[in-house]
Amino acid sequence: MSKMCDNYGAISAVYDKINSNVDYSAWADFFEKCFDKFLKERPELVLDLACGTGSMTFELARRGYDMIGVDGSYDMLNEAYDRKFDLELPRDVLFLLQDMREFELYGTVGAVTCCLDSLNYLTEDGDLEKCLSLVHNYLDPDGLFLFDINTPNKFENVYASNSYVYEEDDCGEGNFCVWQNAYDKESRLCDFSLTVFEKNEDGTYSRRDELQTERCYSEAEIEKALTKTGFEVIGFYSDFDFTPACDTDERWYAVARAKK
Ligand SMILES: C[S@@+](CC[C@H](N)C(=O)[O-])C[C@H]1O[C@@H](n2cnc3c(N)ncnc32)[C@H](O)[C@@H]1O
Repeated sequence: MSKMCDNYGAISAVYDKINSNVDYSAWADFFEKCFDKFLKERPELVLDLACGTGSMTFELARRGYDMIGVDGSYDMLNEAYDRKFDLELPRDVLFLLQDMREFELYGTVGAVTCCLDSLNYLTEDGDLEKCLSLVHNYLDPDGLFLFDINTPNKFENVYASNSYVYEEDDCGEGNFCVWQNAYDKESRLCDFSLTVFEKNEDGTYSRRDELQTERCYSEAEIEKALTKTGFEVIGFYSDFDFTPACDTDERWYAVARAKK
């Protein structure tokens, strides 16, 4: 049996296993260092944009922040919901199924986080500005936007046209996942062709396929879009120690402040 999926439908069930190497605790430590360094007081309410299965949302909730998670994928939020009921959190987390180019909140928040190259999923001209304008709109004056992006170096030299295979140790018992990349330097779009095989109880496999696309942005493009939508760019960093970004990085961690 084979099914063509979209919006993370193919990989939501194996997503956390595949990304189990991401250190959300260290990342949240970095966010808290940013709060100390760039805000007058620690934010009470934080939006985790494109929250996926909620790894960062829950990490910050555990640390006492009131959290809202927004994501455009029903399947990813379903995983987040399942996880929420297994966790003992100091406060409930509000999850909203919304597109990050047109989301609505009830009021403003002190900080917005957006993790694991979610902004690279904004592929159409104008998408990035639409999203940044909304983030700016829903941030308190001087509130922080903390996000990361995959760098041009990663698209050109790491993703390129490479393929990866995840066996059951990486994506769950009985499962198997194939990830094939195709990066087009001219359009700066990178297609990920994903296939997941999940083992059924009777020993047969179900196959799910999905095509995802990320867009490569330069630092200058992101900075221009941030400035245009009312942000002051505080910095682009290579790591969680505030090392200035450089061309050989695979991921940049950016901090911007909403000027109002
Ligand atoms: C690589 S995952 C990152 C998820 C999560 N931030 C994490 O750290 O695991 C990218 C997420 O972006 C979401 N996404 C992509 N495009 C979106 C859009 N236009 N609006 C809302 N969410 C979107 C996907 O559903 C997915 O959950």
